[in-house]
Amino acid sequence: MNSNLSNIKKSKLYLDKGQCIGIPTETVYGLAANAYSDKATSKIFKLKKRPISNPLIVHYASLKMVKNDCELNKIFFKLFKKFSPGPITYVLKLKKDSKISKNVTNNKNTLAVRFPKHPLTIQLLKNLNYPLAAPSANVSTKISPVSKNDVKDEFGKKIKFILDGGNSKIGLESTIISLINKPTILRLGGIEISKIKKIIKNNFRFDRKKKKIVVPGQSKIHYSPGIPIRLNVKKPKVKEAYILIKKKKFSNKNYYYLTKNNNLKEAAKNLYKTLRKIKKNKYKSIAVEKISKLGLGLTINDRLKRASKYDN
Ligand code: TXA
Ligand code: MG
Repeated sequence: MNSNLSNIKKSKLYLDKGQCIGIPTETVYGLAANAYSDKATSKIFKLKKRPISNPLIVHYASLKMVKNDCELNKIFFKLFKKFSPGPITYVLKLKKDSKISKNVTNNKNTLAVRFPKHPLTIQLLKNLNYPLAAPSANVSTKISPVSKNDVKDEFGKKIKFILDGGNSKIGLESTIISLINKPTILRLGGIEISKIKKIIKNNFRFDRKKKKIVVPGQSKIHYSPGIPIRLNVKKPKVKEAYILIKKKKFSNKNYYYLTKNNNLKEAAKNLYKTLRKIKKNKYKSIAVEKISKLGLGLTINDRLKRASKYDN
């Protein structure tokens, strides 16, 4: 616990100086900086090689702080009560007098807001007098990090500090819901659509087939290990890594299992770790077994599909 406390103090020192650091969350690790500072947030875009047109999620530990920056509505409070802190991000109206840096919002009047569940990050946020802008701590289009070492893999010595909070428990990014007009799911994520549906009934929109891209960051290849991925494969090629959902009776050296017994939560947690491992083991391509589209399976399929868009 003492080392945790001193690491939180260290994190605060770096952040107060306008630096970027790695922070743990229950979804994936974030690359964090003071959301009120133009200088600090511009560093995030540079490090990630992220286009400035792609806005950032801002992380809070309390409602009191959010009220300074956003207009909160009834549906927000309903969802907040049920799901926050946790893997859900709300897109809200930005207040005119908010101090949020224009870099964060791409100069628009909406803000993506999240209340992460990791105890160290909550403690850190409580010690700061600004919220933290934090995209996933990976270079743009690459796999999101789910441990301190993954973040190191992405940025090496380019960032000075990573707050170590162990492995991310959920392993997939947050579900994003816009509450600007009729509630609309913008990105599938760690909270299943069916759970959200239960809270706000039919009063929301989610169109899986919709061609139009609603979240700027979802427009390109994403979550890519940098090698081709084939989906719904029954029989892999000889030199291909093969990702399977459940442990089989027989095994091959190139087989990578996401779960012991087909639990989708476990599969979600292991997905990015497995993709990273396969890349490290120098495979040139990946085949993936068919994965259920129920619950978190929908999010897993979404991420794999985007990752498979790689062509080079
Ligand atoms: O779980 C998560 O959400 C992680 C952890 C670190 O919190 N963060 C994360 O951030 O996934 P990032 O930047 O990798 O993805 C955020 C997505 C992007 O696709 C971005 O375009 C979208 O959120 N976004 C940010 N602000 C938005 C806004 N005001 N309106 C619509 N989409 C927004
Ligand atoms: Mg990301």
